[in-house]
Amino acid sequence: MHAVILAGGSGTRLWPLSRLHQPKFLHPLSGSPLSLLQATAERLEPLAGPEGTMVVTGAAHAAAVARQLTALPEENILVEPSARDSCAAVGLAAALIARRSPSAIMGAFAADHLITNPAQFVSVVRDAVAGAERGLLMTIGITPTRPETGYGYLHCGDEVGPGPVRMVEAFAEKPAYELAKQYVESGDHLWNAGMFVWRVDAFLAELARQQPSLHEGLCRVAAAWDEPDGDEVLASVWPTLTKISVDYAVMEGAAAAGRVGTVPGDFGWTDVGDFQTLGEVLPGDARGNVVLGGGADHPGEKPGVLLRDTDRLVVVPHSGRLVAALGVDDLVIVDTPDVILVCSRERSQDVKKLVDELKARG
Ligand code: GDD
Ligand code: MG
Repeated sequence: MHAVILAGGSGTRLWPLSRLHQPKFLHPLSGSPLSLLQATAERLEPLAGPEGTMVVTGAAHAAAVARQLTALPEENILVEPSARDSCAAVGLAAALIARRSPSAIMGAFAADHLITNPAQFVSVVRDAVAGAERGLLMTIGITPTRPETGYGYLHCGDEVGPGPVRMVEAFAEKPAYELAKQYVESGDHLWNAGMFVWRVDAFLAELARQQPSLHEGLCRVAAAWDEPDGDEVLASVWPTLTKISVDYAVMEGAAAAGRVGTVPGDFGWTDVGDFQTLGEVLPGDARGNVVLGGGADHPGEKPGVLLRDTDRLVVVPHSGRLVAALGVDDLVIVDTPDVILVCSRERSQDVKKLVDELKARG
C-alpha cells in the first residue's frame, strides 16, 4: 500500500503553539516526544514503509517535514505551491502514483490525528484495503459520542465483506447541529475519521466524474512532474485548481452512487483540535496535570515545569523558561518565546476567537 500523509492547515485553536509557520502536526502533541506527523509516519510504517510513504505539504513546511522524517526519500515529499484544500492534495498524490501503478492501493491520512492504539489501527486499515481491492472508496468509521458538527457522518448499510466491510449509504460532511444530533441518536451513523483507502484508478474515475476540471488539472501536473517544465506547469496550473475538500468533492457523491464502504475502527482516535481535548486524551500526573514538551525539534529536552497543588492543568512549556504554577486548577498555560496564553480549560475552543481578533488588529 502507498500511504499519503496530508500535512496542511494551521490549527488556530492551538495558538500560540500552532502558528502559520509552525502548524500543529510539527509539535509534540502525541503524548510522546514524537510530533503528530512523526507519530503518523511511525504507525504507517508496517503498512507502507518509508519508501511507500508520501507527505503532501505546503512550501513553507517542506523543510521542517524533511527534518522530522529523515527516513523518507526526498522525492516522497510533495510540495504544493499554495493550499488548495484536501481534494487537490490527495488527488495530486493519486495522479502521481497512477503514472507507475494505476491499480495500486493508496491510503490517505491526516497528519494531525492522535491514535492511542497503533496496532489496532494497522489491523483496521488492512481490513479497509480488502474493501478497496473490490473497488470501493473506503472510509474508517468511528462511533460518535456527541453531535459534533465539524466531522463527516457515514450512514452505514449492509455488511458486504470481505471481513467487516460495510456499505455507506450516504456521506454527510459537516451537517448542521440538529442533523448531527439525529445521526448520533440513530445508532446507524459513524463519524468519518478523515482517512481514506482506495485503488487509485477507482478514486481518479470518481474525481473525473464529479470534478472534471480538477481531475484534468491534476493529470497535467502529474504528467509534467518529472519533466524539465514540471515546475512551470505546476506553477501555472495549481492556482487554477478548485479549492474544495475531498469529502465534499468526491465522497458525498461517491456514496450516493453506491461506491463507498467503511470499516468501523476503535483505536483511540482523536482529531486534535484544542487544548481541552489534549488534556482529556493524554495521560497526566496523579492530579490530572498534563505537560507537553520536549519533542521533535528539542529531543531529550526536559519540560521545565514546577507545579504545586494544581489540578487538571494543561501546560505547554515551549520557550525554554520554567513554568511554575501554584494552587490553580483547570487552566491551560502555553508559554512560547513571544506569547503566553493563560485560559480556562473549558474556554479552549474560544482560543480561535483570540486569533481572529489579533488578525483583525493586523
Ligand atoms: N497538503 C494539504 N493541503 N493538506 C490539506 C489541505 C491542503 O490544502 N487542506 C487540508 N489538508 C489536510 C489537513 O492537514 C488534514 O490532515 C486533512 O487534510 C483534513 O483536512 P481538515 O481541514 O483537517 O478537515 P476537517 O478536520 O475539517 O474534516 C475532515 O476530517 C474529519 C475528521 O477529523 C473530514 O474528512 C471529515 O469528514 C472528518 O470527520
Ligand atoms: Mg481536521
